[in-house]
Amino acid sequence: MSLFAGKLNTLDDLFAEQLKDLYSAENQLVKALPDMASEARDPRLKQAFQLHLQETQDQVSRLEQIGRSLSIDLGGHTCKAMQGLVAEGKQTIGEDATDEVKDAALIAAAQRVEHYEISGYGTARHYAERLGHAEAAALLSQTLQEEQLTDTKLNDLAKGYINQRAM
Ligand SMILES: [Fe+2]
Ligand SMILES: [Fe+2]
Repeated sequence: MSLFAGKLNTLDDLFAEQLKDLYSAENQLVKALPDMASEARDPRLKQAFQLHLQETQDQVSRLEQIGRSLSIDLGGHTCKAMQGLVAEGKQTIGEDATDEVKDAALIAAAQRVEHYEISGYGTARHYAERLGHAEAAALLSQTLQEEQLTDTKLNDLAKGYINQRAM
């Protein structure tokens, strides 16, 4: 594995790059989720963001565990896509909106983030399986499941009553 070469020669190299991207993305979310929780007006939405902050901290730890066991340095990379998603979310939060519309907008922003993560973890898990990194694959699966459950929960809140209330 040529971890410090700029060039991607193998799927192992690409796997390492994907993990670095996820690591940056998750660390950005650890910083962004407290703001989303404090901006949410609906108690169930607030609770969902608070729970997902804890999960996101665990997800960072899982990536670090993978990095240690495979000798991959996860630092030194910025996930620009997540920077954009977070910036857009912040813009929404800053807009003048009713509490009900703001809650709906927070869900819209958060679901974009979850879908991005679901895509990233689905790919990374597949690479891990393909490369024979069973332990990494199991850890990535665990995170993938949390992201999917979060997306489902947000969907249920939006479709259950939050979007209706914003009308
Ligand atoms: Fe995450
Ligand atoms: Fe997430």
